[in-house]
Amino acid sequence: MESFSSRVGFCLLLSAIFMAVPASIAQLTPSETMLLFQVKKLLEYPQVVQGWTRWTNLCYLPPSPSLKVVCSNGRVTELFIVGNKSSSAGQTLSEKFSIDSLFTVLTKMSNLKALSLVSLGLWGPLSPKIDRLHSLQALNLSSNFISGEIPNNIASLKNLTTLVLSDNLFNGSVPDLTGLKLLQDLNLGGNHLGPQFPSLSQSLVSITLRNNSFRSEIPSGLKKFNHLQKLDISSNKMVGPIPSFLFSLASIQYLNLSQNQLRGALPSSTSCSKNLTFLDISNNLLIGKLPSCMGSSSRNRTVVSSWNCLSDGKSNRQHPYSFCNKLALAVKPVQRKEQEPGINFGLILGIIVGVVVMAGAIVLLILFIVKRSRRSEDADDDRSIADKMSVRSSPKPAVDSRRVPQTMRSAAIGLPRYRVFSLEEIEDATNNFDPSNFMGEGSQGQLYKGWLVDGSVVVVKCLKLKQKHAPQNLMQHMEVLSKLRHRHLVSVLGHCIVTYQDHPNIASTVFVVFEHISNGSLRDYLTDWRKKEILKWPQRMAITIGAARGVQFLHTGISPGIYGNDLKIDNILLDETLTAKISDYNIPLPLKTGSESPISNRLSSDENGEKEDIYQLGILLLQVITGKLATFTSELDELKHQLEKSLAEGPSKLRNVIDPSIRGTFAYDSMQTTVQFAINCLSKDSTKRPSIEDVLWNLQYSIQVQEGWTSSGNLATHL
Ligand SMILES: *[C@@H]1O[C@H](CO)[C@@H](O)[C@H](O)[C@H]1NC(C)=O
Ligand SMILES: *[C@@H]1O[C@H](CO)[C@@H](O)[C@H](O)[C@H]1NC(C)=O
Ligand SMILES: *[C@@H]1O[C@H](CO)[C@@H](O)[C@H](O)[C@H]1NC(C)=O
Ligand SMILES: *[C@@H]1O[C@H](CO)[C@@H](O)[C@H](O)[C@H]1NC(C)=O
Ligand SMILES: *[C@@H]1O[C@H](CO)[C@@H](O)[C@H](O)[C@H]1NC(C)=O
Ligand SMILES: *[C@@H]1O[C@H](CO)[C@@H](O)[C@H](O)[C@H]1NC(C)=O
Ligand SMILES: *[C@@H]1O[C@H](CO)[C@@H](O)[C@H](O)[C@H]1NC(C)=O
Ligand SMILES: *[C@@H]1O[C@H](CO)[C@@H](O)[C@H](O)[C@H]1NC(C)=O
Repeated sequence: MESFSSRVGFCLLLSAIFMAVPASIAQLTPSETMLLFQVKKLLEYPQVVQGWTRWTNLCYLPPSPSLKVVCSNGRVTELFIVGNKSSSAGQTLSEKFSIDSLFTVLTKMSNLKALSLVSLGLWGPLSPKIDRLHSLQALNLSSNFISGEIPNNIASLKNLTTLVLSDNLFNGSVPDLTGLKLLQDLNLGGNHLGPQFPSLSQSLVSITLRNNSFRSEIPSGLKKFNHLQKLDISSNKMVGPIPSFLFSLASIQYLNLSQNQLRGALPSSTSCSKNLTFLDISNNLLIGKLPSCMGSSSRNRTVVSSWNCLSDGKSNRQHPYSFCNKLALAVKPVQRKEQEPGINFGLILGIIVGVVVMAGAIVLLILFIVKRSRRSEDADDDRSIADKMSVRSSPKPAVDSRRVPQTMRSAAIGLPRYRVFSLEEIEDATNNFDPSNFMGEGSQGQLYKGWLVDGSVVVVKCLKLKQKHAPQNLMQHMEVLSKLRHRHLVSVLGHCIVTYQDHPNIASTVFVVFEHISNGSLRDYLTDWRKKEILKWPQRMAITIGAARGVQFLHTGISPGIYGNDLKIDNILLDETLTAKISDYNIPLPLKTGSESPISNRLSSDENGEKEDIYQLGILLLQVITGKLATFTSELDELKHQLEKSLAEGPSKLRNVIDPSIRGTFAYDSMQTTVQFAINCLSKDSTKRPSIEDVLWNLQYSIQVQEGWTSSGNLATHL
């Protein structure tokens, strides 16, 4: 009796001592230790647990960011293993790995409250046995290769506060999680889940569904999520309008709705919660104006709204309106059948003239080749045959060249037939105006690169027209577009008109399809030293004369002429044969003000525009001669002054001002004429500037002097 009671007393004492020991120092029970070693083996001995031996006190591991074991009463309560097999690196565990065996072992640690198995290369479907971990509060299986559906019974883990299954291969719909009343942090980002937005508990503080396949409207139930601070549903396919309550949720701080297909306008009365500091609504299909709480006045708030079709003036990184409002199209792209004969006539005329000129050119080419083969010394001149041809086929310009624009038509002969595109074709070509195809803001509208079905590369320019144009009136303008085809222009291949009825600001958008010139701009050539070396004096002359021919065509080959063409070196593009093509010239359409450049606004009369183009040609010459880029008027005036001075002081002075890359490649007389001429073009008094015919005449004269010099062997000896 006595011994019995003393034994009981001893036991009580023992257990009292045992209880007094802090839980974390407790030894793991042998069975739990064994379970951990099984986990180590099943995970195929990841680096972080390789140090574990029979003598390691697993509850007493040194702290590390990639490994943590917390024990209580001889049982593991927290297990945290982070490997280095990130899902982006694509490393999975071996074929022998069984996720089911792993979870069978893990569920035996029934006291687990927190489990993180991150970047360990786990693969296979998540075992439904997971529901045996009743005490689980935090589960993090991020960055593995777990596939299939999320098991429904995960919803029975009532004590879960954190559920992170991000960056795996989960697919299918998300089970109903409304029963997880304690859940605060849910991250299912980077999977293939969808399409329905999941049913969730209102307790949530952070919801991350980024980069999945959710394709539904934003549910109105979110209105009641008063604790919600972070909502990230970016990179899904969410549709419908953005409910404005979202911005005023009581606790909301971070809202990322980017890269979805959310459409419509945000009501101007929308208010934002004071706590909202990050808002990203970019890459959707939103229209209209941003509510004031998202404007620039909201200082403590970062708002990203690019790549919608918003009409705020300052954010120019927006798509054309048609992109967002495809469904609201009232009028399909206008077909222009009745206009066909006109185009045909022009085309046939073009072909006839073209054939005649081509025949002439071929004769000249043969003569040229014969002549060239007699002389071997000018082999250094690598100017393309095409350029030689263009110079030689018209040795003297006709006195009244205003009446012979047809010869210039021939130039466009290699182009496909002009045609009207459908909006679908434009969208397919530009991959729905994908930002990666955005090339920049031209002087009159945005430019997108595109690929037609036949594989050809094009550039699409989006022009917004002034309101309310009668279709008849528009047709006349389209007629002009079809004529913008010339050897020295980036030619128009076709167009597409889209008209909207429901939008108050924009009546129509015209997409003009241009050929794509791939070899870079004159600026690229003059700034890259390797390319600069290619452009010797003969090539530079050929490029300027090409540009001048393009200008001549714009001024006199079309009626009424097109002036004020913004001829900067960035806009002179070169093809593979270094043929100059003017891009971004003034498209004669009744454009909406605001989408017009200051250049086109400045044109008060054609006279001014004409002389302005001559001035720009002068600048072009100046830059080609000196190899220096003059950006500001002051630099330009300085360069001009230098040239004028050195011209007066004689050949040796002039040579010093010339671009060193072309020394030895020019005939002095040719250069001198060109310099003098460039200075005339830059005359401050616009009435003193030469006409485009004079420009061409002088350039041709200069090129003939140069050719005479080259053919007498000078080029070879000076190189
Ligand atoms: C992970 O760590 C191990 C051991 O240091 C190394 O051999 C392996 O290359 C690492 N893997 C990655 C993806 O870094
Ligand atoms: C959930 O947590 C509560 C409070 O911490 C606890 O009383 C309850 O036993 C836990 N439920 C399970 C299934 O472990
Ligand atoms: C889950 O693990 C990832 C990777 O270590 C970590 O970035 C993230 O913070 C973890 N989430 C939670 C809620 O513990
Ligand atoms: C999920 O992916 C698996 C293959 O990993 C496939 O068999 C299954 O049909 C997919 N389920 C859904 C709903 O897409
Ligand atoms: C989305 O996930 C895919 C893989 O499913 C990945 O390639 C892509 O980079 C992710 N995008 C973002 C924005 O995280
Ligand atoms: C902002 O958040 C804090 C908690 O972070 C909360 O106490 C406060 O009420 C919130 N403010 C508003 C205006 O919702
Ligand atoms: C929103 O999400 C996208 C894609 O997931 C990401 O690129 C962007 O940086 C996020 N925006 C903010 C403000 O965090
Ligand atoms: C911006 O934040 C600072 C502190 O972070 C605060 O003092 C200031 O009042 C805020 N300004 C506005 C306009 O909310």
